[in-house]
Amino acid sequence: MTINYSERIPNNVNLANDRTLQRALEHWQPRFLDWWKEMGPHDFAEADVYLRTAVGVDAQGWASYGAVKMPDYRWGIFLAEPIADRTIGFGDYYGQPAWQQVPGEFRSQFRRIIVTQGDTEPASVEQQHLLGHTCPSLYDLRNLFQVNVEEGRHLWAMVYLLHAHFGRDGREEAEELLARHSGDVDKPRILGTFNEPISDWLSFFMFTYFTDRDGKFQLKSLAESSFDPLARTCRFMLTEEAHHMFVGETGVGRVVKRTLEVMKELGTDDPVAIRKHGAIDLPTIQRYMNFWFTSSLDLFGSEVSSNAASSFANGIKGRPDEGQYEDHICAEMSYELETPQGKEIVSLRNAMNEVMRTSYIRDCEIGVKRWNMQIQRAGFEFRLALPSPRFHRSIGAWVNVPTDPQGNAISREEYDRLLPGWTPSESDRTFVKSLMQRVIEPGKMAGWVAPPDRGINNLPVAYEYVRLV
Ligand SMILES: [Fe+2]
Ligand SMILES: [Fe+2]
Repeated sequence: MTINYSERIPNNVNLANDRTLQRALEHWQPRFLDWWKEMGPHDFAEADVYLRTAVGVDAQGWASYGAVKMPDYRWGIFLAEPIADRTIGFGDYYGQPAWQQVPGEFRSQFRRIIVTQGDTEPASVEQQHLLGHTCPSLYDLRNLFQVNVEEGRHLWAMVYLLHAHFGRDGREEAEELLARHSGDVDKPRILGTFNEPISDWLSFFMFTYFTDRDGKFQLKSLAESSFDPLARTCRFMLTEEAHHMFVGETGVGRVVKRTLEVMKELGTDDPVAIRKHGAIDLPTIQRYMNFWFTSSLDLFGSEVSSNAASSFANGIKGRPDEGQYEDHICAEMSYELETPQGKEIVSLRNAMNEVMRTSYIRDCEIGVKRWNMQIQRAGFEFRLALPSPRFHRSIGAWVNVPTDPQGNAISREEYDRLLPGWTPSESDRTFVKSLMQRVIEPGKMAGWVAPPDRGINNLPVAYEYVRLV
């Protein structure tokens, strides 16, 4: 399935055959571009950026690379190849043919889920609006912009579904996706994490590690959906998403690496000395991790959820990698939860959010292990750790339950007193921000982050990934 680039909107869905849909999307396109110019990367519209663009939808060789000015990026609609005779893989309709149209009775449920996913995509671009100004290198600047244009593409993916399958309501929702803005007092983005500012690069690396990984799990569960166009859209988005988490994992790893170099050089783990030397001490990295990890945990929703149960029953949203389970109906199964009141047995369908959150946490552990290997190899005792999912939560059973990062109950007074040592304090943020000085000489790196092991697409690290004007 090749992508047709000769049309105004690149696509592999035969858009030219559906004039009405094509016209509707061509009407939305200039609004998207206006949004990009206003809310996208600030001040870099004229820069030539070494970007990848999708040219096919199979996993191998799907992208081409080249210098592009971001407003000229070819955002389009790319669905993964259809699977012949695909059947529904979970829930009450298990085994029946997958749906090519949304069944009327599930229309609003599907719409809400597509809008919620769609809302996160432009939100992250808005959160990173000013970040380019303080890039630690041209390599990093390019990665930021790659992530940004692809989040823009993911917005297109959801808007296509809204336009193609939800009629007038869908078109209105597509407008609203450009009207809400991250952090806006009157019209904020739907989910909390996507209203948090990302004004320093340590936060950006944490966001791409933890929050883009939430995206990966949401997309994985939607890739199982009975509504086939949604499943195919999400399958291709996952291909793009992998790079975002690579940016996060290697980003944090490079910060840790640089910190370890400074610790060795100075022969101390004293945060004050390390900071004086222009690197970020490991306890500060831990506090940023505590913040972004716990905020991302909230994105999975409440532990017990009748919404999650009906999404599963109706075939809207499966479990990530549904194929790994034996029972795909889950009508009789139960799940043991830990709540502040003790253990609670609930029906598995009602616990689907928790099932997803648990696989997400396991995936988060992998990077943390790698970072700890680096610390261990450098000969230091310190270890980074994911905090307990009970800690610092804003959604679910553990809201307003004061615990330490290990999840032990403590008094409210103790919690309030100790929290600034567990999540980034004002002075942490001020310090991290003070390091954010723009470095734009090809091959040069800011002093708080180590260079990457290799460049993009086999190019050297010192390649001029962004040509500024
Ligand atoms: Fe995305
Ligand atoms: Fe992403």
